[in-house]
Amino acid sequence: MYNKPIKVTVPFLPNKKKLYREFNNLYRSKQITNNGIFVRRLENKLKKYLGVKHIILTNNGTSAIQIALRALGIKKNIVTTPFSFVATTNAIIWEKLNPIFLDINKKNFNLDFNNLKKIKNPEGILAVHCFGTPCEYKKMFSYIKKKNIKLIFDASHAFGIKNLKTKKSLLSEGDISTLSFHATKVFHTVEGGAIVTNKSKLAAKIRLFINHGILNYKNLSIGINAKMNEFQAIIGLEVLKNMNKIILRKKKIDELYKNKLSKRISFQIENENYSKNYNYSPIVLKSKRELEKVISLLNKKNIFPRRYFYPSINKLKYVVNKKKFPISESLSDRILCLPNYYELKKKDQIKIINLINKICNK
Ligand SMILES: Cc1ncc(COP(=O)(O)O)c(C=O)c1O
Repeated sequence: MYNKPIKVTVPFLPNKKKLYREFNNLYRSKQITNNGIFVRRLENKLKKYLGVKHIILTNNGTSAIQIALRALGIKKNIVTTPFSFVATTNAIIWEKLNPIFLDINKKNFNLDFNNLKKIKNPEGILAVHCFGTPCEYKKMFSYIKKKNIKLIFDASHAFGIKNLKTKKSLLSEGDISTLSFHATKVFHTVEGGAIVTNKSKLAAKIRLFINHGILNYKNLSIGINAKMNEFQAIIGLEVLKNMNKIILRKKKIDELYKNKLSKRISFQIENENYSKNYNYSPIVLKSKRELEKVISLLNKKNIFPRRYFYPSINKLKYVVNKKKFPISESLSDRILCLPNYYELKKKDQIKIINLINKICNK
């Protein structure tokens, strides 16, 4: 038994001295919210870091999805994935829209766009780049265009992902991409999020939406309050300075799992044409029984991986849906995200690996 519990993740906390220096500046300025200098600075830095045209910071990633749905004028039906964090579907239902699920691809865990033609007249698609692996939507792109289907990516896991050949950001694909900067994410602002788009008119509309519909003291439309505040932005600015070392450490952790875990364990098939941020280390066990055994043994040793994502969202009570999604349901029963965070000690990771192998190599 270890003294301290080992959780699936621990947030990266920036250097206190540097943080306090900026908090001091904030105390002097006294503008702690309403698009002050730190939020604007973080927007500019992220625009450059991510290589995107417009980025609007929000209070969290869920409101970013809700605003994206409204900004694109989705009225009723939106196609989405049953394999995601529950916020993807919650945002749809909260907006009084209809989620229409399509099953996922067995290999990359993302919405299988081959099934799209089965759905009659969807207004939009809300797809997820699950664990940072890009959705394969391109073979359906001409159909999506022809049918004028809006394309939103919940890119909460895809911070910094780029096409390695073209250097183009994955976030600039589709009509809108949304991000979550929750403390569990590779880049975070404690709570927070962002909306990314290439379209200037859409960006202007979104800026109004996140600020009650108000611009320059004039009320120009309906809106809501989804603004990031200056304290969040300062945390973000300091975390951003550390991105290289955070990603490098997470890469090492992820690679060690992949190299040392039992050959009976399988992994998400990633896309080698894109960069990775290594925020998650998911493993897929042979059966639900094996997964339960692994969890139970790890928990006994004070180690707490997470069942991301469980259950398959279509199985939730409040989600009205009669269909089955065998790939998503089977994956949800067998997938586990292992501890992967900056401070994780190698000796602890080796213990985790040995414990899992003890069960899987039996
Ligand atoms: C795929 C996905 N979508 C949406 C969210 C919601 O983001 P937030 O917690 O910032 O509201 C998260 C994470 O929390 C997520 O992982």
